Amino acid sequence: MRPLLTALALLALMPQTVAHAEDGHELWLRASPLPAPQRSALRHQATRLQTTAHGPTARLALAELQRGLARLGATPARGGKGGTITLELVQDSRINDEGFHITARPDGQTVIAARREIGLLYGVFHYLRLAATGAPLATLDLASSPRVQLRVLNHWDNLDGVVERGYSGRSIWDWWRLPDWRDTLYTEYARANASLGINGVVVNNVNAKSTSLTAPYIAKLAAIAGELRPWGIRVYLSARWTAPMEIGGLKSADPLDPAVAAWWRAKSDEIYAAIPDFGGFLVKANSEGQPGPQDYRRSHAEGANMLAAAVKPHGGVVMWRAFVYAHDNPDDRAKQAYNDFQPLDGQFADNVLVQVKNGAIDFQPREPFHPLFGAMPKTNLMMEFQITKEYVGQSTHLTYLGTLFSETLQADTQAKGTGSTVAKVVDGTLDGHRLTGMAGVANIGADRDWSGSIFNQADWYAFGRLAWDPELSPETIAREWAAQTFGPAPKVVNTVTTIMMPSREAAVDYMTPLGLAHVMGTGHHYGPAPWVSHLARPEWNPVYYHKADAQGIGFDRSAKGSNAISQYAPPIAQKLSDPATTDERQLLWFHHLPWDYRLKNGEALWSGMVHHYDAGVAQVARMQVQWDSLQPYIDKERFAKTQAFLAIQRREAQWWRDASIAYFQSVNHLDLPSGSAKPAHDLDWYKEQNLPYAPGNP
Ligand code: GCU
Repeated sequence: MRPLLTALALLALMPQTVAHAEDGHELWLRASPLPAPQRSALRHQATRLQTTAHGPTARLALAELQRGLARLGATPARGGKGGTITLELVQDSRINDEGFHITARPDGQTVIAARREIGLLYGVFHYLRLAATGAPLATLDLASSPRVQLRVLNHWDNLDGVVERGYSGRSIWDWWRLPDWRDTLYTEYARANASLGINGVVVNNVNAKSTSLTAPYIAKLAAIAGELRPWGIRVYLSARWTAPMEIGGLKSADPLDPAVAAWWRAKSDEIYAAIPDFGGFLVKANSEGQPGPQDYRRSHAEGANMLAAAVKPHGGVVMWRAFVYAHDNPDDRAKQAYNDFQPLDGQFADNVLVQVKNGAIDFQPREPFHPLFGAMPKTNLMMEFQITKEYVGQSTHLTYLGTLFSETLQADTQAKGTGSTVAKVVDGTLDGHRLTGMAGVANIGADRDWSGSIFNQADWYAFGRLAWDPELSPETIAREWAAQTFGPAPKVVNTVTTIMMPSREAAVDYMTPLGLAHVMGTGHHYGPAPWVSHLARPEWNPVYYHKADAQGIGFDRSAKGSNAISQYAPPIAQKLSDPATTDERQLLWFHHLPWDYRLKNGEALWSGMVHHYDAGVAQVARMQVQWDSLQPYIDKERFAKTQAFLAIQRREAQWWRDASIAYFQSVNHLDLPSGSAKPAHDLDWYKEQNLPYAPGNP
């Protein structure tokens, strides 16, 4: 056996930690000392730390264990008597290459075992998570492997440092000073991701520039890759379809042109020479003005496969986005991706993943699951969630997205009978796919708190945890996050979880109740603008989505309307064909109904809508009171910031409610239900509010 590397020997190698104010920078990895009895039990169990593996990732794992124990107040006492934690590489068929197996025996021996070093690192982070959340650690026999293979953040970061739909400052990638200057932020970022099991990063915006594929930028990317590699993270690039013309001097970007294919092969070879574990390409093609294979009358599959062939010899993949809708297509926007992609099922190469947004429009506060899930059994389908809250309050509204992600994952596509959940499509078990993935559009920027607010960090956290295990409950995740972020006191964990769990529903209520969608302000998508109707393309206008008139409201997607419901499996389509059997949370997404339509609780649709708006505002008021009750338990800085943001949210929830009611009332001329207050201003006042400098808007 090779000599053991012990934690004490490593101590000398660890960077000194610098004390910072509680500005949120430490994320869920901050110091949260355990209560005294748990602390001493943990210290006793972890008196000696050692590893039998010696590569860079195993050394990181041991250092993280040491650091994590210190953070929990359980630094091993020098020479103390007690148990040993050993990190060990093993052959274990119960886990996969990234999995880990933790055993703790009553004699004080704890073993964190894995097949590869990265599993040791993930195992350490999991052990620390268990400790931080008060789980019993004395006897353990726990094996865990990620259910999804590619767990990837998509950065919509431009090369000039501006982040599209970013609400947390500039990009963390300092392209200008790379590759010579490697900011320490890269390691901190990698560590946070590794603590969740995130193993891939697309560094640049899907609205890509060819420049990122030039030699200087490949060298810069190689420098980033070097920082992320020990943490088990691969880098990927968004590829601009017309790069062969823009930087390669070719006349065409036709995927069937041999010169084009040769250019991409050579480009891939060049990237892999610099970055041997480069992950591959992400492509937004023929979408919102981006070029793509359809410009040459080639299909998405022909485009994706050409690129896939270029990276295949190196083990790379292509993530091809299905977010498409065309300005010259008069069909319901919600149907267009399915119409383009579903007929291509079975035509994509085996190293292509088709990346599908959770819903068919665009990351709304609530959308039904995208009908492509379950409809392309012969294709590797990858989930795309948006962690950055473009449509859900951006940086200031507290709207925990764990519930949104999980709602989609648990939706039943019925593709192969009951229980054919989206999660099973995504983890590959439904149709027997090995290449699986989940992408999250990152909410990460150079702000001290990374994500624009303390609570937005929970969305990054929830994404990572659900990518590892799509079956985890959002409440479990919220509790884990709360305990690690604010400390394990039950009052804090319970109250924070109570605030988080209904928070996204509150936003649905004050923004888009009963299945409404896309009524946000033009461009920046912040605040209400259901009246907008003048924009060039019909589907850019909120009126396209709600279709409110004197008689009623909602988008008819039944057979009498756009028939989008026919894109779902027959049992679902059947239910959706009748408003009475449609989930009321999606009612106006699928049906155009008269204002006096009777909801299940007996009230008229219009009254029901108003009551939802009221409920959303009232819930935010409750969140404020709940947060205020935590003042004695939370550090000043994070308490005050969250309190201020909740006040903004309260004011803006009211704005949303009042503006929406003022507008819809101008259309239906109906009175408000008794007890509901009149909007504070007239409709014109709301129409005049505009936000020319709202962030994140390209
Ligand atoms: C949304 C978003 C854009 C983004 C696009 C995409 O439409 O507003 O900024 O480019 O999605 O996902 O490609």
